[in-house]
Amino acid sequence: MKVVITNKIPQSAVDALRAEHDVVFYHDTDDCITREACLEAVRDADAVVTLLTEKVDDEFLDACGDQLKVVANVAVGYNNIDVPACERRGVIATNTPKVLTETTADTAFGLMLMVTRRFGEGERVIRSRMPWQWGMFYLLGMGLQGKTLGIVGMGQIGIAMARRAKAFGMDVVYSDAYELAADVAGELGARKVELDELFETSDVVSLHCPLMDSTHHLVDADALKRMKKTAYLINSARGPIVDEAALVAALEAGEIAGAGLDVFEAEPTVHEGLIDRDDVVLLPHLGSATVETRTAMAELAAQNVLDVLAGKPPVTPVTK
Ligand code: DGY
Repeated sequence: MKVVITNKIPQSAVDALRAEHDVVFYHDTDDCITREACLEAVRDADAVVTLLTEKVDDEFLDACGDQLKVVANVAVGYNNIDVPACERRGVIATNTPKVLTETTADTAFGLMLMVTRRFGEGERVIRSRMPWQWGMFYLLGMGLQGKTLGIVGMGQIGIAMARRAKAFGMDVVYSDAYELAADVAGELGARKVELDELFETSDVVSLHCPLMDSTHHLVDADALKRMKKTAYLINSARGPIVDEAALVAALEAGEIAGAGLDVFEAEPTVHEGLIDRDDVVLLPHLGSATVETRTAMAELAAQNVLDVLAGKPPVTPVTK
């Protein structure tokens, strides 16, 4: 069957697909494929492997044609895929949960440490060759021990973040539609609270929910006003969950203490109001960026394709 891989992915996954199918197109370069080239490449494909940079909408699915059976996204988030449109055409959409959980939680935790302890600022001091000297009050940050971490979205990555927070002596509250199983909640010492309470009581708010209509701009001007003036916001989920303009305004007004962001509203563009601020740490969407994790993600996506093309259910279809 015809398989299209729209962007460069780890070789082991390409080899697995090539071993069983005809990989008719592979965009084997480091830059992202253009929309035009992508729509051309996917014609007549039975399976397409996509990254989060591809918008899988009606136009994309029309370009593929009626024979398309599976779109395998190499990401856990699948807000780039119009799932109802896939369903209407009988196309199975898959994602890559679990394999990136620990790596993404590491990124969120790293952002939290960097921004609360002002490590980014410190690094910039030295790199800019500014004079500095050890000082009792120099670049003091906020310690994490005994502070409250509010986790919005207690899925696998939220739970992995909570485990790390517990090891650092933090208290954890969370907001989610679902309640944690009693043993997991007990292990983490995590308490479910209403979202407003989470914003009002947390010293750090970390976002781990998917981007959906209901979470678009979940962190808006009102939510930011509810946060403590000393609190920090961490986003390693999806940019549009935060109203970036409202975040810049809140930082300027001193309504919160800072933010650590791995994702942005209009990636790869970053709001100008964030770039020169010392109270933010900015990463270029590195959440799952380790060799091991990206390999596991691509191999899982390849397995999903192989399963569907073999008439079997895929390992990780997207969950609605
Ligand atoms: C994902 O898998 O959704 C991540 O954002 C990719 O790093």
